[in-house]
Amino acid sequence: MSEKMWAGRFSAQEDKRVNDFNSSIRFDCRMYKQDIKGSIVHARMLARQGIISGEDADKIEEGLLSVMSDIQSGKLAFDPAAEDIHMFVEAELTARIGEAGKRLHTARSRNDQVALDLKMYLRDEVKSVAALVLELEEALTAIAARHTRTVMPGYTHLQRAQPVTFAHHLCAYAEMFLRDLKKLKNAAENMDECPLGSCALAGTTYPTDRMFTAKKLGFARPCGNSLDGVSDRDFVIETAAVAALLMTHLSRLAEEIILWCSWEFKFIELDDAFATGSSIMPQKKNPDVAELVRGKTGRVIGDLNALLVMMKGLPLAYDKDMQEDKEAVFDAVDTLKLCLTTVTPMLQSMKVNEQNMLAACKKGFVNATDMADYLVKKGMPFRTAYKITGTLVAECVKSGTGLEELPLERLKKASELFGEDVYRAIDPLTCVTKRESEGGPAPEAVERELQTLGKNLAEMKEYFAKGK
Ligand code: ARG
Repeated sequence: MSEKMWAGRFSAQEDKRVNDFNSSIRFDCRMYKQDIKGSIVHARMLARQGIISGEDADKIEEGLLSVMSDIQSGKLAFDPAAEDIHMFVEAELTARIGEAGKRLHTARSRNDQVALDLKMYLRDEVKSVAALVLELEEALTAIAARHTRTVMPGYTHLQRAQPVTFAHHLCAYAEMFLRDLKKLKNAAENMDECPLGSCALAGTTYPTDRMFTAKKLGFARPCGNSLDGVSDRDFVIETAAVAALLMTHLSRLAEEIILWCSWEFKFIELDDAFATGSSIMPQKKNPDVAELVRGKTGRVIGDLNALLVMMKGLPLAYDKDMQEDKEAVFDAVDTLKLCLTTVTPMLQSMKVNEQNMLAACKKGFVNATDMADYLVKKGMPFRTAYKITGTLVAECVKSGTGLEELPLERLKKASELFGEDVYRAIDPLTCVTKRESEGGPAPEAVERELQTLGKNLAEMKEYFAKGK
């Protein structure tokens, strides 16, 4: 094991077990690009401010770029014995360029360095998550646009309730994911303050230019307080929180997919490429992708929980506990991206069984409210109409028929207000097309919703396409 950079203060070598325990390189190595980029800008600032010479800054930049390209090409492997990515890069730089490398860490600490690296890393991740959510939204709205007249039962308590359309149902998810996009945008906006220059916790006596480094690294401004700069992990928690909510939405959709492709529903059929078979039961076609999405949601919620609990008791400023932030947030984002990448093509390739959706509307009295509403429109108070319809439903349950199958004479016995036109009024398609209220399932209402969604999604797309 090579000597530690901080070895001067110590008389004994670090125990090998402590080194392994302490080391974060196996997971923070993925931030090497951010680390190197941050260091280059820091060195340039030091030279501009006359803190180091221009010549040293040039050597540092050149050395760091060579470290970067060697890592990228696989020529330079991460040393598992290194304490972390920051130490690894600096040690490698100094090994390559000598004395000048030792000047890089002036007016800086690993505390502001790690906060910077992680923020830059997550800033990019938020963007790539947003791009994947936008693809999912495009898929959902495209399927919806084809199914504005595909009637299916809407459920409450998983009991058939009132008819909706498949488009209306999918648009409900599109609304959820649009809110998630807004939260991603908000998370990105909250990441606009640069921690670099906070140093260990209390700033520095060197005449640094924090606005210069902030701007060069794509931030709006430096963060306003050096203690907060090194101890803030809100941006990590916010990213994990949006990831957990996104996963929760994906999980609800996954649960419905699982139900819909069961023989009990058969509303959809997954493409063979997105389903799996059983090792023993030859007839099986299992929705593993959807089940895994539902299962992985637990992990991501756990990641968010781990972050919140890890932070809740920490005194200012930096504490080593915070090193635990990375594995949790990396796992949350990796898992989310994996799920999004698989769910979108699964939806795009599934077959929609319109006949079965309509057939499901014929059972379960999804038109009962519409029968009551029919009587109300003829002048009856709603409560009375509700009671009469309830009695008719009870009778149908006993005889195993639907409301639409009751003869007019029977209906007239219940109320004189019933006429021949009731059958049209309680037809599932009529029930849906009459629900024209804003946000409702009528084809025109859903088409208006799709237009508004399209406009909002275009705005989101534009925001996230802006390069930082
Ligand atoms: N590997 C550390 C982390 O991820 C970097 C910061 C270390 N700072 C320190 N003072 N030991 O948090």
